[in-house]
Amino acid sequence: MDTAGSDPFSAAAIEALLAPAVRRLPPPTSLSPLPYDLNAGVPDRETLPWRELLDATRVVLEEDAAGALTYGGQAGYEPLRAWVAERQAAETGLSVTPGHVAITAGSAQGIDNVAAAFVADGDVVITGAPTYPGAIRTFRARGAQVIDVPQDEDGLVMPALARVLDTRRMTGRQAKLIYVTANYDNPSGSTLTLERRQRLVELAREHGVLILEDDAYTGIDLEGPPPTSLFAVAGGRGIVRCGTFSKTVATGLRVGFIVAQPEITARLVLARFDNGGPPILHRLLNHYLRSGRYDPHVRMLQTLYRERRDVTAEALRDLCEPYVTFRMPRGGFFHWLQLAPGLDAVAVTRAAAERGVAVTPGTGYFANGGGEDRIRLVYSALSPADLRRAIEAFAEALAAVASASR
Ligand SMILES: Cc1ncc(COP(=O)(O)O)c(C=O)c1O
Repeated sequence: MDTAGSDPFSAAAIEALLAPAVRRLPPPTSLSPLPYDLNAGVPDRETLPWRELLDATRVVLEEDAAGALTYGGQAGYEPLRAWVAERQAAETGLSVTPGHVAITAGSAQGIDNVAAAFVADGDVVITGAPTYPGAIRTFRARGAQVIDVPQDEDGLVMPALARVLDTRRMTGRQAKLIYVTANYDNPSGSTLTLERRQRLVELAREHGVLILEDDAYTGIDLEGPPPTSLFAVAGGRGIVRCGTFSKTVATGLRVGFIVAQPEITARLVLARFDNGGPPILHRLLNHYLRSGRYDPHVRMLQTLYRERRDVTAEALRDLCEPYVTFRMPRGGFFHWLQLAPGLDAVAVTRAAAERGVAVTPGTGYFANGGGEDRIRLVYSALSPADLRRAIEAFAEALAAVASASR
């Protein structure tokens, strides 16, 4: 009989077998079992258009069951790529064809696809500080060294980015990628100004570094449209834009896309090892998008989330000052709180959890340390009444931590 020490497949032995980059990975953010989940950036469950998707499923299976249920290729369903291309062309004024587009399993797979195609062991990827932890995990799992550049309320700070690029140039090993969520960043909620977009594109061009524009929250516009996309500013050259239907339709679909100049898209499609996405999902989503029900759905979401952002902001101002300050985001799902001096984000997160509220400490959003005085708070998933109750409990948590640390 095997003893624990000699078991070649014990938990410790499995750990030792893992690729080193994977061994060091922290777990991803997940849904919380607590009564008030201000942690997971997901759409409100009540908004999920399941009836429309059910109708669409029936239609696509009745029309062409074999097509929907047979491998569909690495780039994804052509009519869905055409829909994305048309939207991107209309938004950017550029010529965007289905050859520019590939369908992915969400923006997450788009990021991984770009990393798989371009990032070799030891390559440098530049991100914001803070940034989306899923991107940090992906780049690191692909062997990248992640260098972060500070963000302020208007997004990535350009002189700091220029300094990093200059330093990399001097080492003779320039960064491969600059990863940025220009619209409604996760977690900071910041939107990169047009001037900074122009400067970013200029810098990337000067240094021959690709831009990865993560568009996960585009569409969740709460103050009208955002500035011209990085993709458009760059004229579609030297940039990959990855988008998703997770936030405007449903995270469970796992459907998103990448858009890039065709030579890049073709290479990205080759660097996929999943035999393509599920044709049935591509087809039913395509049917839904073209049914005339998608655009009103997105407008409904904008109204809903604007109210939630505002209700949460009001409750934070009423109940949580002077412990927190924040800036109103122009879109997306998040308030990014600055804690008053002396308040520790992990302690506040723990105290909030004891009161039934899940929030996220800022520390997970920094590739190389930081965020001890920040909390991310999601307003998308709960009703205004629940948001108010959650902020009441959160305010108690803040007061408790503040009095314990006095
Ligand atoms: C900035 C950002 N990018 C990408 C993703 C991944 O989303 P999905 O893969 O569901 O499109 C998320 C999810 O929260 C995100 O916040």
